[in-house]
Amino acid sequence: MCGIVGYLGNKEAYPILIKGLHRLEYRGYDSAGVALVNADNSLKVYKAKGKVADLENYAQDKDCSGTIGIAHTRWATHGEPNDINAHPHYSQSATLALIHNGIIENYAVIKEDLKKRGFSFQSDTDTEVLVQLIEYIKTTNKLSLEKAVQLALKQAIGAYAIAVIEKGNPNQIIAARKSSPLVIGVGDDEFFLASDATPIIEYTNKVIYLDDEEVAIIRRGEELSIKTISDVEVTHEVKELEMSLSELEKGGFEHFMLKEIYEQPKRLKEALRGRINIDETEVNLAGIREHKDKFINAKRILIVACGTSWHAGLIGEYLIEEFARIPVEVEYASEFRYRNPIINKDDIVIAISQSGETADTLAAIELAKEAGAFVYGICNVVGASIPRNTDSGSYTHVGPEIGVASTKAFTAQVTVLSLIALTIGKLKGELTDENYLKLVKELASIPNKMERTLKTNQQILNFAPIFTYARNFIYLGRGYNFPVALEGALKLKEISYIHAEGYPAAEMKHGPIALIDAEMPVVVIAPNKGMYEKTISNIQEVKARKGRVISIITEGDETMKELSDFSIEIPETEECFVPLLASIPLQLMAYHIAVVKGCNVDQPRNLAKSVTVE
Ligand code: F6R
Repeated sequence: MCGIVGYLGNKEAYPILIKGLHRLEYRGYDSAGVALVNADNSLKVYKAKGKVADLENYAQDKDCSGTIGIAHTRWATHGEPNDINAHPHYSQSATLALIHNGIIENYAVIKEDLKKRGFSFQSDTDTEVLVQLIEYIKTTNKLSLEKAVQLALKQAIGAYAIAVIEKGNPNQIIAARKSSPLVIGVGDDEFFLASDATPIIEYTNKVIYLDDEEVAIIRRGEELSIKTISDVEVTHEVKELEMSLSELEKGGFEHFMLKEIYEQPKRLKEALRGRINIDETEVNLAGIREHKDKFINAKRILIVACGTSWHAGLIGEYLIEEFARIPVEVEYASEFRYRNPIINKDDIVIAISQSGETADTLAAIELAKEAGAFVYGICNVVGASIPRNTDSGSYTHVGPEIGVASTKAFTAQVTVLSLIALTIGKLKGELTDENYLKLVKELASIPNKMERTLKTNQQILNFAPIFTYARNFIYLGRGYNFPVALEGALKLKEISYIHAEGYPAAEMKHGPIALIDAEMPVVVIAPNKGMYEKTISNIQEVKARKGRVISIITEGDETMKELSDFSIEIPETEECFVPLLASIPLQLMAYHIAVVKGCNVDQPRNLAKSVTVE
């Protein structure tokens, strides 16, 4: 949510900043801007509504010289997306320019106060208030920029990742963070700044992650200096990134989303390597084994997450309760954090997040830690805030997910939750050896079965145009496939803008059935496992009302095929692993319907990849 890039070094800053913005565009894409201290020491700000390409068009005939600059791609919170509200924002005297990711919650009070002191505001943003406050503190107290930033941030309530540069000073960027991510790349005589490591990896693999309320003083020819906003010096270990540049490219696919759907077999195979032994007889999840007493003795597991990660959490509930026999509750992180939940010291809280930066999930983690619970993170982005703020955890290890709609991260989260359930189930002796071995073997075979599932792509591509007329969809599933129905509906909504709802199949008769007519496509996840006969009855109920059924069925199931208008076959697997296969045709269906409708699949309207505001 909002992308930040910065550069200070010996190269021209502008091309580096623009390339960085393109890499971060998945975080927000309603407007973009850049600020540079030009070769003549002037401070220039260029910004434009729309995509980074619109900014490039706007700036093409401008002076973009200089070896220092900051840039931003926006996801609007305060003020509509337009040129004026785009970042960077100048201070009153245009001597400072600032970019910001986050929300300054007390901006209105500060703004009123500054207005009384003669400041005027161009934009509707909370960000402009912050840069004005910095200028006010700096000039009235005759302070350095560094000190003024520290003092201003002491007054700011809310979340921020910021970078500020100053007219006449081509040698310094001041950056800071609280509850919004910020990474500093350390090169040879150059520094990079970004919301995540993706704009940095091209130049250096050495990074430093700032912690909350820390200010980085980045100066040409000097070592990086980091202080808290209370002026206490801190040192951070320089970390090495493992990401490769090719992971950030589309690799011949039309969209990142399609690439990421297709990557699932390979990525999951890699993620399982080392976690399932070579004979496929044992799973080993280090994070669980290292804390095995906690998991064996846990009275309850609470799972907190948002969106797609919450859907994975629901599948985790079924898995852990079935195999480890520990009661599980799954909560939206945003509800959990504000509803005064009961958290006990012997509870384990599992926080699931692709980005590892989701503000609500981070807040839920804080609450759980304060209550003394052990917190386990499941995260995809290495080094993100969630893995740095949890007691232990597992990475999903499926590489950067750039398409805004989550796909490979979801199946990877479900895979890690399967490993967790099997590991605890075995440690607790809840699983018979026979059952355990059967499940481990089957889990190891899932990547190959995913490969086979992807062969349904052509069939889905062929029928997708038929459904672009639809204004609503219903998704139905039972047991493990109820969360798959929710996830399928979310995928369709977010990228094709077709309204869709997921329900447990048996719930249909309690209300949603009123919606079914010849216009209503109903997607039913109907494998030959679980409540097969009951799902057949649900399909009959839809057909009796002329609904159009698209079913996800087990290979060779002629009965379901005959009942359905369209059916997509997936390989046979254990009931608990059906979500890992069934979600793939649903991802492909959402993708193809959205493409036929002409939607921007990788950057759907109003969304952003990493939701760092509440
Ligand atoms: C949907 C999607 C979102 C995220 C949600 C949580 O495709 O991507 O619903 O799942 O914003 O994000 P993370 O997992 O990064 O915490």
